[in-house]
Formats: sequence, structure tokens, C-alpha cells
Amino acid sequence: MTKITFLNLGNQPLANNYLTKKNINRKEKKYQLNVCLDKKTYLVSIKKTFPSKTMFNNKYPYRSSMSKTMTQSFKRLASDIKKKFKPNIILEIGSNDGAFIKNFKKNKTIGIEPCGNIEKITKKLNYNTFSEYWSKKLAKKILKKFGKIDLIYSANTISHIKDLKEVFTAIDIVLSDEGVLIIEDPSLLECLKKNTYDQFYNEHIYVFSTIALENILKIHNLEIFKIEKLDIHGGSNRYFIKKSINKRRINNSVSINKKNENNFGLKKINTYRKFANRVKLSKLTLNKILNKIKKNNQKIIGYGATAKSTTILNYCNIDVKKIEYFLDTTKDKQNKFTPGTKIPILKYNNLIDENVKYIFLGAWNFKKEIFKKEKSFIKRGGKFITHTPFPRIL
Ligand code: TMP
Repeated sequence: MTKITFLNLGNQPLANNYLTKKNINRKEKKYQLNVCLDKKTYLVSIKKTFPSKTMFNNKYPYRSSMSKTMTQSFKRLASDIKKKFKPNIILEIGSNDGAFIKNFKKNKTIGIEPCGNIEKITKKLNYNTFSEYWSKKLAKKILKKFGKIDLIYSANTISHIKDLKEVFTAIDIVLSDEGVLIIEDPSLLECLKKNTYDQFYNEHIYVFSTIALENILKIHNLEIFKIEKLDIHGGSNRYFIKKSINKRRINNSVSINKKNENNFGLKKINTYRKFANRVKLSKLTLNKILNKIKKNNQKIIGYGATAKSTTILNYCNIDVKKIEYFLDTTKDKQNKFTPGTKIPILKYNNLIDENVKYIFLGAWNFKKEIFKKEKSFIKRGGKFITHTPFPRIL
């Protein structure tokens, strides 16, 4: 066995499996959330995985365009892509509700989105979208219909797909020799630095480091030629990748990134064991903070019922006794309950109850955006609680 388990986040439900009034008392599917390191490739992954169909189906609640941070980031990237790469056609793997492809002309994009309820949104607007999982078979179909693709983009999707061999072989089929593949996903280095253990849940099969990704890409004759660091999702990397045969210059950012990861110890198991200890401490401290507030009879609510917060709530045993309800802007989550911990999720309608003094930041990755929006809550003395980089009241 080349894999070493270094973190156990306990018994967890499926992160996006929000409960309804009807099924709240039904037994939920649960699993042990263990996180491991592959000694050969340094790839960090969760141990138990579920079939894609269980997670990404016609009831998927996540909508990219719910966040201004995301839509603005996509807009900036689209403008950069047009200027720098001038692609004829762009293919997006995991196009969700079109937040990225909407920045391009309809006849210049192809979207792949297996969740039918979400793909419907772009289909209705006449975008070329396929409600299918990314695979060699689909890549061949696209090649036949559209020819070689000179730009492939995928944000927060590749880390959700278990079979990386299938993913990159399929990419190799359609990507032109001069083509560019851009993928962005949360950075392992940032996750370890910020103790954001909630990056691990059933959908996030991998949290990539540059070191690990490079090892995987090598097998498929693909090569990272530039890396951009992003604030998105608590710190992500945007990797610009080319075919090895393509002579494009390799930017310094690649070696700098790898050096930073090496210096932090991403090749040493001890680094991961230390992280696991910090996670245990994080659970204790967060509970101490919440218990103290509750002792003073203060109301705590949650902001953003994220998939990530499913990991926190279940790992830290936080239920309605501590957090009364969550507010969320996503329609498909409203009037439902958080998986495992059964905390009600209410519709966010620009108003926070006057009696609320403390808000647990479930969507901590959108902290800037939320703080801007909630100026009046902050002005009246309202406080946010976060778990990253360590649990505290902000
Ligand atoms: P994510 O962290 O998985 O991207 O999910 C973010 C969730 O937070 C999503 O359900 C929408 C919600 N949200 C709010 O309710 N209000 C906000 O202002 C923002 C930015 C997100």
C-alpha cells in the first residue's frame, strides 16, 4: 500500500445531501471520512469514494453564479483568455449554470455538465451543452462534431472525479497540440496553512498540490507551464497546462510554487500528521467558543450552508442546540436541513434578525463579499465566527 491515512474526520453524510421535511427522519447514508497521502505521487485524497451518479445527478444544488466573487473571477479570466490565447473554441468541463461560458459567444463554447437540472439552464439559452460525465467516449463525440479544441477550462471539477486517468486521456483526445488546458482547484498548501479541513468531503476526492498534479500530468505527456494563485475558495491554484510536445516557455511561477510546497513539507508525512493535530485542536476550540456564547443565552446562526460546512458540523458535532438555523441564497437548499446535523436552512432575504449577535461563517471562502454585504449587521455590533485559520470571533 502506498497510501497513508493521516486524518479521520469521523462519520459523515454526503455533503450536498440536504434533507427535506419529508425525509428528515430517514436513515442517511454515512461513511468514514479518512484522508490519505500517496507516498509515490504525493497526491492527497479521501479514502472512501462514491459513484459520480450518487453525487452529481438531477438534484445537484450548487450554482456557480450565486457568488459575485465567482462570476467576477470568471469574467476576468474570460477576458484574459480572449486576449492571450485567442481560442477558436472553448470547452468547459463542469460548466454548471454557465457562469463562465456566458462570457463568450454561444457558437464558441461547449459546456459539459452532468447534473441535468443545472445543464438545463444553459441548454435553454442555446449554448452547446452536454449533460454527460467527462469521458473518452464523450471526448471522441466532441472531436467528431467540433474538431480539435484549442482551449479547455475546468474549475473546481477535476478534483471531483476519481478516475484521473480517464480525465486526462479524454483531454488528450480533443486538445490540439498547440492547445491550452486551464484547471483551477483549491490548493493543498493553502488548505494545510489555513487549517481548512472542510475542503475534504465526499465530492472533493482530491486536494491537489502542484507537486502531485505534475506527477499525474507527466503520465499523460502534459506539463504545467504557468500557475496563478487565486483567493477563490480559500486559496486556489490556476494551472496553465500544455502538451509536452508543445515548446511553450515554462514560467517561473511553476518552480516557485513547487519550492514553496517543498519548503512547507508537502513531501513529508509528518507535515500531514501535524495538520491532523491542528484539526483536532480546531474542533475543541470551535466548540468552546460556541458553548461560551450559548451559556450567555445568545443566538447563533449560520451563513452559507456550504458543502464544506457539512464536514465541520458533523466532525464537531454541531447541531440546532448550537446553531439555530442557516441562511443561504441558493433556492435548492432553502427550507431544507443540513446533512447529518439537521439544522434548518432558511432563505436569505437581505435581513438578519435583530436578535442575532453571532453568525458562524459557513461560506468563509466568500468572507470579503459577505462582510461587504453585511455592513449593517457589523455596525450594530454583530460578530462573525470562523474556524480558519483557527477558530475565533472576528
Ligand atoms: P461553496 O462554498 O460550496 O461555493 O458554497 C457557497 C454557499 O454559500 C452557497 O450555497 C451560496 C451561499 N452563499 C450565501 O448564502 N450568501 C452569500 O453571500 C454567498 C457569497 C454565498
